[in-house]
Amino acid sequence: MGINILTGLQANSELHIGNFFGGIKPIVLRQEALEVGDELYMMVADLHSYTMSIDHSVFYDQVLNNIRWYLAAGIEPGKEGISLFRQSRVPAHTELAWHLSCFSYFGELSRMTQFKDKSKKLESSADSVTVGLYTYPVLMAADILLYDVLYVPVGDDQKQHLELTRDIAIRINNRFEEQFPDGVFSVPREWKAQLEFTEQEEGVRIRSLSKPENKMSKSIKDPKGTILVSDDPQVAAKKIMSAATDNEAEINWNWNKQPGVTNLLQLAYLLDDEVSKHDVIEAWKGKTQYGELKKHVAGLVEAFLTDIQKKVASYSDREVEDVLRIGEHKANNKSRQTVERVRKALGLEK
Ligand code: TRP
Repeated sequence: MGINILTGLQANSELHIGNFFGGIKPIVLRQEALEVGDELYMMVADLHSYTMSIDHSVFYDQVLNNIRWYLAAGIEPGKEGISLFRQSRVPAHTELAWHLSCFSYFGELSRMTQFKDKSKKLESSADSVTVGLYTYPVLMAADILLYDVLYVPVGDDQKQHLELTRDIAIRINNRFEEQFPDGVFSVPREWKAQLEFTEQEEGVRIRSLSKPENKMSKSIKDPKGTILVSDDPQVAAKKIMSAATDNEAEINWNWNKQPGVTNLLQLAYLLDDEVSKHDVIEAWKGKTQYGELKKHVAGLVEAFLTDIQKKVASYSDREVEDVLRIGEHKANNKSRQTVERVRKALGLEK
């Protein structure tokens, strides 16, 4: 059996270039490294998207728009071994989530820090904490266990959820060992191995332009520090021109001492297919004109956004839906086999 990988993509209303280069691009590169027998599942977690309240009137289009960005980044959804799909179109996810919930403990779910953090926020805003928010990690475990995956590239904030997935899988495998000596589920690798796997791609971390000690993020409400993929290209270029730097007066690659300058250097090679990281660092090393570096990166950002926004706009709803239909077909075929195994173990089927 090859190596299976699953990525769960949040259905976000607004992606920023940090999401693009840190999340989407590495998956595109991973696609190129795929070997015969390997499978790469890319799922939009649309069922997870309303565990907190959202605007459902724009939700359908938001999901399609997210998919457009993946296509524009170079995902080839027709390729052997690649499945791009919506979680909600693969009923095995909700079925398996129920089965898993009967083997998940109230106590272990209560300990999930994401649940605790999110529910605290809801309570302080007088909103209600839903059961969906509570069982969110069980649905995520189902997402992962359906596809026999070894690797799940996710950020640190999802570490606990991945560990929970392993715990549930091992628990069920032990319980049904006699009937399924090879395990009902393939168990994803432990966290350390996951980190090693993602670090092969050398984690890209785009920092805020205004506070380069922090990651670029929407949640810190930092419009000047964040470039949305939908930003007007000229406005985005201005954000680069006003990026925070330092007083060292010399350009060097150093995240600790010069995070702002290093962030700009990182953008300079990510935004330019013609050059390597090494080229960029060498070309700017020791120079003193921060303004020149900013002008250079601003030009690259403007060109990049102009180009990719045109590309994104070129996919009709129909085209995106057709692409999804292919992936959803593949995902249904694979996940149905897992659910059948589980139903047999549970005694729902013979
Ligand atoms: N919870 C993940 C996040 O917030 C999204 C997600 C849902 C996911 N299901 C998944 C990620 C399965 C990986 C695998 O980023």
